[in-house]
Amino acid sequence: MTSYTQIKEGVEPSIFTSPKHVIADINPLIYGGFTEHMGRCIYGGLYDPTNANGLVDERGFRKDVIECMKELQVPVVRYPGGNFVATYRWQDGVGPREKRPKRPELAWNGIESNQFGTDEFMEWCTVVGTEPYLALNMGTGTLEDALAWVEYCNSDKDTYWANLRRANGHEKPYNVKYWALGNEVWGPWQVEQDTKENYAKRANQWAKALKLLDPSIILILCGKNGHSDWDRYVLQECIRITDMHSIHMYTSDPNHYANATSPRAAERAIEMTMAFIDLARCDIDYENYFTGVINTNPKSSHRPTICFDEWNVWNPVRAPGDKGAEELYNLSDALAVAVWLNVFVRQAKNIGMATIAQSVNVISPLMTTDRGVIKQSTYWPLYLYSKYMRGKSLATHVCSEAYTGTTFPGWLASTVDLPLLDASAALSDDGHINLAVVNIAEHQDMEVSSAAPEGVRVQIFVVGGGENNIRDHNIEGKEKVAIKESVWSATNKFVFEKRSLTLLRWKV
Ligand code: AHR
Ligand code: AHR
Repeated sequence: MTSYTQIKEGVEPSIFTSPKHVIADINPLIYGGFTEHMGRCIYGGLYDPTNANGLVDERGFRKDVIECMKELQVPVVRYPGGNFVATYRWQDGVGPREKRPKRPELAWNGIESNQFGTDEFMEWCTVVGTEPYLALNMGTGTLEDALAWVEYCNSDKDTYWANLRRANGHEKPYNVKYWALGNEVWGPWQVEQDTKENYAKRANQWAKALKLLDPSIILILCGKNGHSDWDRYVLQECIRITDMHSIHMYTSDPNHYANATSPRAAERAIEMTMAFIDLARCDIDYENYFTGVINTNPKSSHRPTICFDEWNVWNPVRAPGDKGAEELYNLSDALAVAVWLNVFVRQAKNIGMATIAQSVNVISPLMTTDRGVIKQSTYWPLYLYSKYMRGKSLATHVCSEAYTGTTFPGWLASTVDLPLLDASAALSDDGHINLAVVNIAEHQDMEVSSAAPEGVRVQIFVVGGGENNIRDHNIEGKEKVAIKESVWSATNKFVFEKRSLTLLRWKV
């Protein structure tokens, strides 16, 4: 178990990890992406057919974006929303392009041209080498539409929608495995917002029908933020049909310390969600006890994981959704993203999937211009973790000072410890220990004992540090925040630079 001891100023901090202390496998799907029909994510991000600078392939896909997705080894991509999905008719986005209708888009107040749809997304996923994850419209959409979409994507039978896919040039089914039962159905900003009671009832009905059509699909229940009564209730009612429970959270604060520690709220939310999941499972066991089928119902051992399918740093006032939510990320945000990723590695046992919101232009580490891509500060932690923090999650024990000031959300400081050194560790399949440490302190290097065994050759990757200001960010042609690499023959002490993410990597 990962643990933490708070120490006072002047006491030497330490970080301990061991290849023997394996917590769980890290699901590679935690490095997933999300592309919504919103702002410049699809149009101008994935698909840019009129680009005048030769940046697109024969299909109109941005080649530079594809290269970045490959570099980040994005394993799964959620689509087509987000809030967008609540009025989306997937049928509008297939077939000959000139016949596809333009529709009012009510989530972000625009016009949807439908020039990019299911078949284009599937093709893009193939080119990137990633797996699709589709969200169903539980706003204006009907179960009939949802069944038709699953049939269009997955059926190999001689039936109407499967035949339409064939007629559109796609003989083989796409076999889309991951399907979400709606998105943020609880939100007042949704078209067709619903109550938890109605949603749970519908989710059960939809799941039954969808699994009749394709029993192999994995269904993701629409949760809230993981610490709400919505989450508790829908899990209680729908635990039997839930393969994963979706939660969303965005963090951000103008104060660097509040900004960088706030992803710890997500960790608490994960713990609470797992408690709701176990609570719902206990009820199944309890029912079984009285009907005399103890432990014979396979459902009682069924323990859904969490699908954290929207997470990131976002301030919707600073970067409003209906203006495309284009955030400019600085070093503080990059450190926050690293803490987010530490949360997912530490919580590996409970996380079945996580998809950053979003992959291009909209609250994204990656921005396009007509001339190329800009890798924002937050791109680099994502790159390092996706490359190295794979395999098995290892327990760490950290002794460091803690941040005790105000937080976002406000309840955080009075609920959990907020270490200034935030760490996670992975034992990768190639036999390396990868120790990721964020030194959140803005003005204090941290000399730490026992970070790596003495004498081993350690590769070092640092994002940020003393040369950088906490507000540094990357713009076109000027990359202030990037990765610095070096090598170290380990001694007893290592200095984690102020305001940095450091990844230490050594062979076991
Ligand atoms: O990712 C941006 C938006 O944030 C999504 O559309 C929505 O699901 C969430 O509120
Ligand atoms: O920007 C509109 C909505 O406001 C977003 O979808 C939601 O996350 C936020 O609270």
